[in-house]
Amino acid sequence: MSKSEPVKVERRGGVATVIMNRPEKRNAMSPDLHRGMDQALAALEVDPEVKCVVIRGAGGNFSAGQDLKEFFRALEDKPAEAKQIQEVANRWRWHRLYNYDKPTIAMIEGYCVGGAFMQLLATDFAVAADNSVFSLSEVNWGILPGALVAKVVADSVLPRHALYYACLGDAFDGKEAARVGFVNYTVPAEQLEDEVAKLADRLMAKSPVVLRAVKQAMRQVRTMDFDQARDYLEAKDTAIRVDDPEQSYKVGLSQFIDKKSYKPVYQPFKLGTLANGKPGA
Ligand code: COA
Repeated sequence: MSKSEPVKVERRGGVATVIMNRPEKRNAMSPDLHRGMDQALAALEVDPEVKCVVIRGAGGNFSAGQDLKEFFRALEDKPAEAKQIQEVANRWRWHRLYNYDKPTIAMIEGYCVGGAFMQLLATDFAVAADNSVFSLSEVNWGILPGALVAKVVADSVLPRHALYYACLGDAFDGKEAARVGFVNYTVPAEQLEDEVAKLADRLMAKSPVVLRAVKQAMRQVRTMDFDQARDYLEAKDTAIRVDDPEQSYKVGLSQFIDKKSYKPVYQPFKLGTLANGKPGA
């Protein structure tokens, strides 16, 4: 991979994988990397061929966080440039991803540090290698978990976990990240790509319109009161019945009630053990 391309995009069917591509710097996020991620994600969101977006790093690591040299030190005396790039960095790592029209998955291997928690927690799903290494290291650099890191961490896990890891800066592995809720589940490192591909395939089997509405609803209701949520969900529910070209609601009910051609099967399965597409395998 070329040093001059801090972001790469690979495609497999409807899945686009956006790669933070500075492996020699453990994918630390430089201004150029931020600009590249922002542009790539914006383009993929409106690309009709793309149904699901995966975010990963090159060379066996997710990201070592903000580039301490290029993002922090080099911009110390350039407030205008610093503000402009901070906006870009926050846009793609939070606002764009959080509101993304398509399902997104973070694929975590190696290091996931500091500022990388923003894209980790903005994506809809996160799957990590068992042996991946996480750290909210900011406290050790004399800075806060800034931008929106403190906010998104505090919103994502129990307060004791958020305080413990933010105040101590201790590293923890993928299994601990799953236990406290930073990622959905972990798998052995050698299975990570396959498991992420399986999750992407399962998401792409859903109606895109319905899936988008469900994920938006799950996010939006968090900050609403009960009356607002009921009203919003009613309107959203009506909207997807009008919008859904697959008519998922009518088709599904007709298959179950009239044609008896479809019956859901419920069987317990363990997250991360979807080998061969067989839940519970
Ligand atoms: N900013 C700038 N450069 C970074 C970086 C960062 N966040 N993380 C790694 N690098 C650079 C190193 O300076 C080194 O550059 P060099 O080859 O020019 O000397 C290169 O990437 C490789 O890093 P190295 O420390 O040798 O790799 P490692 O595999 O032994 O350790 C880390 C990887 C991620 C554990 C370690 O680099 C680290 O702790 N980085 C800082 C992470 C951090 O705290 N980020 C949050 C910032 S708020």
